[in-house]
Amino acid sequence: GKDTSDTEQRVKIAELSKSSVCMKEPERVNEILTSMRNSGSSTLQVISDFDMTLTRFAYNGKRCPTCHNILENDKLISEECQAELQNLLDTYYPIEIDCTRSPEEKLPLMVEWWTKAHDLLVQQKIKKADLALVVRESEARLRDGYKEFFKHLNDTCVPLLIFSAGIGDVLEEVIRQADVFFSNVKVVSNYMDFDESGVLRAFKGQLIHIYNKREGALLNTQHFQELHSRSNVLLLGDSLGDLNMSDGVSDLQNILTIGYLNDKVDERRQSYLNSYDVVLVKDESMEVPNAILRYIT
Ligand code: C5P
Ligand code: MG
Repeated sequence: GKDTSDTEQRVKIAELSKSSVCMKEPERVNEILTSMRNSGSSTLQVISDFDMTLTRFAYNGKRCPTCHNILENDKLISEECQAELQNLLDTYYPIEIDCTRSPEEKLPLMVEWWTKAHDLLVQQKIKKADLALVVRESEARLRDGYKEFFKHLNDTCVPLLIFSAGIGDVLEEVIRQADVFFSNVKVVSNYMDFDESGVLRAFKGQLIHIYNKREGALLNTQHFQELHSRSNVLLLGDSLGDLNMSDGVSDLQNILTIGYLNDKVDERRQSYLNSYDVVLVKDESMEVPNAILRYIT
């Protein structure tokens, strides 16, 4: 019947008819999926954000920590510093997710947030040796289905670039403890610079925040050059800035973007639908990306 055509368009992959899935152009998604499937796994690369994309936004009704939040632990930083970081979060996170302000307006404020937080962290004489324990004690959680996601990509030799404005040392520890830091995984993030006694003295390189992933991507032309034969990209993110993670890809043929819409869902739904091919609304799992990977590889 007439009213089933929309459903038919969507059910190429059963998981795409889950209630959390929204697509502005399901037919276009189907076309991209078919093209990627025909090209096979040897032409695929996956680029993913980390915080609130590979990790959960909430668990049992409680917010889960980002890489930065994981460091807010008594073993690492003073109570005073924790309060100051919390203050920054309360000030700047609402700005991050405010869809009434333009990226241009938000950019300098985001730089301010990251810079202030990193300055505070550097004052705390954080020891590299304490990071593993702090990650273990944290409530960070990879999304359900993460094992299949990482394992499938490793088994099919598909490179995974994790491109994060979080903290590389923390992120690596999270995936190491989850036993999914396979050799096909490359991380681009903000890394800590420790002195010879293992105490944090600075952050390395150019700061990555949520609005300069384009610049970050372009600094990694070497990586993308090596992957030039992988002209199909599956991109996962939770912020609109994450869409720029693929800006450095050479010889791009198809890109399918999946966006997790975790917070301020009603206000942001339309802009996410306009920007991401597949929008996952308050979906805490990797079910849809996994189903897509099974389909195209
Ligand atoms: O991995 P991803 O690029 O998502 O990491 C960035 C996230 O880290 C942002 O979405 C932001 O909410 C969070 N953040 C934080 N504390 C800071 C700076 C950023 O929790 N000081
Ligand atoms: Mg994120």
